Amino acid sequence: MNSPVSLRDIPQSNIFRKGDVFVLFGELFGRGYANGLINEAKKAGMTIIGITVGRRDENNALRPLNDEELAVAESNLGGRIINVPLMAGFDLDAPAGEPTPTDLLADMTLKSWQDDRLDWQYIEKCREVGVARFKSSVARVMAELDGMIPDGSNAFFAHTMAGGIPKVKVFLAIANRIYKGRGERFMSSRALLDSDLGKLILMNFDEVTANTFQYLIDGSAHIRARLEKSGGQVRYTAYGYHGTEILIDGKYQWQTYSNYTQGRAKMRLENVAEAAWATGIKATVYNCPEIRTNSSDIFAGVELSLFPLLKALRQENGGAWAEAQWQTCRSLLQEGITLEALLQKIEAYNTSSVMSVFRNFAAWPMDNSEALADLMIGTSDEIIQMHKDRKELVVGHLSALVLEGTGPLMFHETSSPAGPVLWLNHDIIAKQLNLMHSS
Ligand SMILES: NC(=O)c1ccc[n+]([C@@H]2O[C@H](COP(=O)([O-])OP(=O)(O)OC[C@H]3O[C@@H](n4cnc5c(N)ncnc54)[C@H](O)[C@@H]3O)[C@@H](O)[C@H]2O)c1
Repeated sequence: MNSPVSLRDIPQSNIFRKGDVFVLFGELFGRGYANGLINEAKKAGMTIIGITVGRRDENNALRPLNDEELAVAESNLGGRIINVPLMAGFDLDAPAGEPTPTDLLADMTLKSWQDDRLDWQYIEKCREVGVARFKSSVARVMAELDGMIPDGSNAFFAHTMAGGIPKVKVFLAIANRIYKGRGERFMSSRALLDSDLGKLILMNFDEVTANTFQYLIDGSAHIRARLEKSGGQVRYTAYGYHGTEILIDGKYQWQTYSNYTQGRAKMRLENVAEAAWATGIKATVYNCPEIRTNSSDIFAGVELSLFPLLKALRQENGGAWAEAQWQTCRSLLQEGITLEALLQKIEAYNTSSVMSVFRNFAAWPMDNSEALADLMIGTSDEIIQMHKDRKELVVGHLSALVLEGTGPLMFHETSSPAGPVLWLNHDIIAKQLNLMHSS
């Protein structure tokens, strides 16, 4: 991909209707992106079906949800959940009776991790166990699902899985430095990527964030074939991240959060969609803007690119509703602090020489730098302090708007998708939001 392929016009088509089935491939969290798609699927009257990643028992063995957990998850989703654990990654997998990668990492310390080495032949064995477990669980899920999707209906598979950070103490400390540290506490993302620990984490990201999309497409092949033979259609979507165009200096310009450690896995996800597309399968990765969710909260400063959405709302024919969003955001700031001053700070941040260096699409995902961490995390802190309450942030409101806007864009585009990888930038999201709220 040499440059972003951006969705510029609001898609209008819709092939999905009552009786068609929407399958969420990942769990649903309150602030998660998937809510946008689920809302649209419900509006269209589709049957909603979900999966679970399962839970770990006291010995770290994967188990299905218990009755109570299942009831909560189904009511939260508004649909049935196929209760077969689909936890991806191999951080807790190993040949029977042998140590898992997480066990091997447990001995690493903050002093030793950069020199600690892993036995890659052994890690590969663990990976094979994890992949085999996941694929066989996918096969069980698909067998159940097969009976739930009638002949001739359409199916929409929405992949939302991303993650794969192993739960080891040493990484929590490292992550705090790489994603949140500045000054004395700064740590270069390159140090992580050059270590065996970092290489293992990237392999696990590949499994969770990218390869699961392939396993979903492969595992549902017989459902796809049956539906297509009986007059139905099948679509696949996944959420990507590969930077976003936002308003900087009055123009939409591509920018990114750095260092996005999962970047290589997200490019692999794009490759999965491109390869499937080449064989006639309608699979599309939608590269979405930075928002605050359970998964992105760890990346301090990722939210800074959200603020210019307010300007985009005005620029894309925003009316009274767009002004009301400005008002809502104003009301979250401390007395005497204006939204204009906050946006000015963001503009200065984005146009600074430190940030401009990172607007290099071809070099993505770039390593972080000390200057970047100082400016980004410092600005993030300063902006949080401009609020009345650090739990009620402007970016919380804007994240909800972006999620709301991506829903109809992805849902309608997927009826007749233009390609396997599409960027949803602030322009189209603002257009969609203004349209939805214009009446
Ligand atoms: N938040 C952002 O700024 C942002 C931007 C662009 C794209 N995305 C992507 O959107 C998608 C949804 O993320 P979100 O930010 O809404 O957060 P979220 O926390 O709501 O969703 C994360 C998803 O990953 C699944 N998951 C986590 N670990 C897993 C594992 N080991 N095995 C299987 N599934 C696992 C969860 O069940 C959940 O469905 C992800 O693919 C994410 O990369 C997020």
